[in-house]
Amino acid sequence: MGEAGQTKFQMDLRRYLREQEEDRNLTRLICEIADASKYIVNSIRTGDLGVAGTSNLYGEDQLALDVLSDRILRKRLLHSGVVANIVSEETSDIISISTNFDGRYSVAYDPLDGSSLVDVNLAVGTIVSIYEGGELLQPGRNQVAALYILYGPRTTLVYSTGRGVHEFAMNQLMEYTLVRENVRMQPKGSIYSPGGQRNLYTPGTESFVRYMEENGAKLRYSGGFVPDINQILMKGKGVFMYPHLQGSPDGKLRLLYELNPMSYLIEQAGGAASTGRERILDLQPRQIDDRAPVFIGCKEDVAKAEELIRAQG
Ligand code: F6P
Ligand code: MN
Repeated sequence: MGEAGQTKFQMDLRRYLREQEEDRNLTRLICEIADASKYIVNSIRTGDLGVAGTSNLYGEDQLALDVLSDRILRKRLLHSGVVANIVSEETSDIISISTNFDGRYSVAYDPLDGSSLVDVNLAVGTIVSIYEGGELLQPGRNQVAALYILYGPRTTLVYSTGRGVHEFAMNQLMEYTLVRENVRMQPKGSIYSPGGQRNLYTPGTESFVRYMEENGAKLRYSGGFVPDINQILMKGKGVFMYPHLQGSPDGKLRLLYELNPMSYLIEQAGGAASTGRERILDLQPRQIDDRAPVFIGCKEDVAKAEELIRAQG
């Protein structure tokens, strides 16, 4: 028991980070992002569902909600006093906040992943990747923290600073309180969550899907990366993939904003993440908009995907 009847499992995020003796500036940064997400939740619930009239680096139409979520986060990060550089899926360049990297962090984020699902009322999320210092174009294994926020029927925040994966949920006072500590994944799972068109799969990926089906796996794909990963992580079983496709050798998902932070979290929970040929966290990004194919989830399932892709492409 902590203060006045508070058990560990109602402990709020800031206090939990302090008790874990996380770096003060990192604690500050994670709490700023958590605070920003309260405004993002509010925009999702009540905001304009229309297009913004602009497009992002990938040629996708930006929704008013994408632009707003990006602004909410950027403003918080700008004024946090602990951030050097930021880059977002919705902007075309790295934004420098401070040239003094000492004690500061750099942040890559996807402010509202899956935003095209909001108009059909499916779950969406925010994904964040954090490095020490000023460099953003470095392999994901150098991240010092990663987190996502899932805006579903409940709003949850899942983070890791390299010491396990912990889940918090937003309560009625809009505070994040601890739900699960040290989330772990099983070696093999019975869920598969396959993105991309199956008729464009390569033979290796097709064989992997068959392998999962023959082993009794159930299809669970919502079209939102955050809820799909959250399902696998919290159930502790399964594999998500957005593979290389005929005509799209790098798949769809973005290394800096989507794959690195999720791979970091999944590895921290005992899982694995691969392009089918190499570990995602070992990829050296060349540009902020790099994409890569991904097979992510239970270790043995990801190893099976690698084996089949090695043999069949
Ligand atoms: O940002 C990309 C994204 O919306 C992810 O959330 C999701 O996993 C993927 O695209 C879905 O893509 P598709 O519509 O091709 O299945
Ligand atoms: Mn996205």
